[in-house]
Amino acid sequence: MCGIVGYIGKRPIVNTLLNGLKRLEYRGYDSAGIAVVEDDNIKLIKKPGKVSNLQNSIEIEWPGYENIEFNLGIAHTRWATHGTPVEKNAHPHIDDKQSFSVVHNGIIENYSSIKKQLIKKGHKFSSDTDSEVIAHLISELYEGDFVKAVAAALKQLHGTYGVAVISKYHNDRIIVARKGSPIVIGVGNDEMIIGSDVSALISYTRKVIYLNDNDIAILKKNDIEIIDVENIPVTRETAHIDWDPASAEKSGYDHFMLKEIFEQPESIKNAIRGRLNFETGSPILQGLGFVPKEMVELSNIVIAACGTSFYAGLVGEYYFEDLANITTEVAQAAEFRYRNPIIQPHTMVIAVSQSGETADTLAAVREAKQKGALVAGLCNTVGSTIAREAGVGVYLHAGPEIGVASTKAFTCQVVIMLMMALKFGRSHRLSRQKGLEISKEITEIPKLVEEVLKSAQEIEKIAKKYASVKNAFYIGRGYLYPVALEGALKLKEISYIHAEGYHAAELKHGPIALLEERIPVIALANDVPGKDKIIGNIQECKARKSPVIATATAGDNEIEEHADDVIWIPKCSNFINPIPTVVALQLFSYYVAKEKGCSIDQPRNLAKSVTVE
Ligand code: F6R
Repeated sequence: MCGIVGYIGKRPIVNTLLNGLKRLEYRGYDSAGIAVVEDDNIKLIKKPGKVSNLQNSIEIEWPGYENIEFNLGIAHTRWATHGTPVEKNAHPHIDDKQSFSVVHNGIIENYSSIKKQLIKKGHKFSSDTDSEVIAHLISELYEGDFVKAVAAALKQLHGTYGVAVISKYHNDRIIVARKGSPIVIGVGNDEMIIGSDVSALISYTRKVIYLNDNDIAILKKNDIEIIDVENIPVTRETAHIDWDPASAEKSGYDHFMLKEIFEQPESIKNAIRGRLNFETGSPILQGLGFVPKEMVELSNIVIAACGTSFYAGLVGEYYFEDLANITTEVAQAAEFRYRNPIIQPHTMVIAVSQSGETADTLAAVREAKQKGALVAGLCNTVGSTIAREAGVGVYLHAGPEIGVASTKAFTCQVVIMLMMALKFGRSHRLSRQKGLEISKEITEIPKLVEEVLKSAQEIEKIAKKYASVKNAFYIGRGYLYPVALEGALKLKEISYIHAEGYHAAELKHGPIALLEERIPVIALANDVPGKDKIIGNIQECKARKSPVIATATAGDNEIEEHADDVIWIPKCSNFINPIPTVVALQLFSYYVAKEKGCSIDQPRNLAKSVTVE
């Protein structure tokens, strides 16, 4: 969602901020802006549209900006929540005395009552946003002490925030704070870089400090002080980021999404590396940290997640029940805390989140802890809020995922849940022999994915054929049912084709009414249990004139009699099938969207990390 950058130090301020914004473009946004302090003035430019629009305006309005010695600055990419994406609503916001400027991620729930009070006191507002009240409130409360004014203002806010504030009265510091919306501080030599995620600062420093909720940090170029809203000093550890900035580049691919699809053999290898144990058949997942007794006693699992991570959770449900014999439920994270879930003793809640910052999944983690569950995070982003708050968990090691549509995170989530299920299974009824067999099959997954990637051109041909459709159905059964849901989500989010994923048997209970010759059905008809029934379902679709694209197991040529087009998936076990199959569906969506000329890495209305409810 929105992105924050801030900088104080020796580098050219505007260039550094613009570079940071460009690194955050992947999060999805609709406007951008920048504010700098020059001596004792705040200068501000904001524009709807891309960071390049902002840069063009800066070149016109601040000629020679590269050589101007600004003191410090903040910048923002906005994803509209309150108010349309127009210039006045873009961040940074500034109070009407032009004294304090703010960039904000999150939602201020009580902004309207604060705004009314401030208007009564004579403040003039210039935007429709909730965020603008923060700048006015700080200005209203300011009596010469910047930190005190910020802390007093934050105490009045209900909702969530990650903020960076600058003041014309204090040209040597930026104040940042967080509650529910992440802020990372990059610590350099005589410089501090702020980001709402590490991508904004990774090319400058690997040394970072993650703020916790209610922290306020006062940043000078060579000093950092962290306090809480009650002005009590707090200590936060410095962490080291070990991913390579080059991994956040496109490396010759047309889109990050394509690059990330093709990275999957490698990202899956990284997710597996050092974790399989060919002595015991029970994977080594150090981060889980549960003692063997807790593993043996584990009787229930609840997986909480959103979107693609939710669908990965549905595959996980099959693994935990099939391999570990543990009753498993997959919960929509957004509903988890509102439906007052019953957490039985010996329940583990697994929060699955690529970003580790999804607001609803984070809230589920907090609710689960409150109810006494064992909580584990399955996150990609190291040091993310969910990873830290869950306390224990397993990192995906998928590397940075920049394309808004999740691809490599999904396959790594599935592989990790397979390893977790294997581990829990070995603590329950699963034999060593079976554990070793499954471990061996897990090592084969990267090769299977490579096989699918080799057929990218054939998939592209099929995708081109169907790129003009307006609607599509995906159907699957068993392990491939969640893959049908994920396939449909991928198609709709990047190609804007209305696509629905269904259990194949459910089609007859309503949706079949829609089928006709302009609505293709993508049937996951791999040679796994349930295949015969899927073939029956394909007949039902053909009888309604829907064209059928089938995924099928290599060598199972019988399928060609039933389907109009076939995407071949290499032969593998039932429980491994979701992984190569989803890769084929990712490619299919990608090529459909490419054919339609869609904005693949930043689809309209979508944000990479959904940090509001
Ligand atoms: C779809 C997609 C989203 C995310 C969802 C959860 O391609 O990326 O549906 O999966 O917003 O995000 P995380 O996994 O970061 O919690």
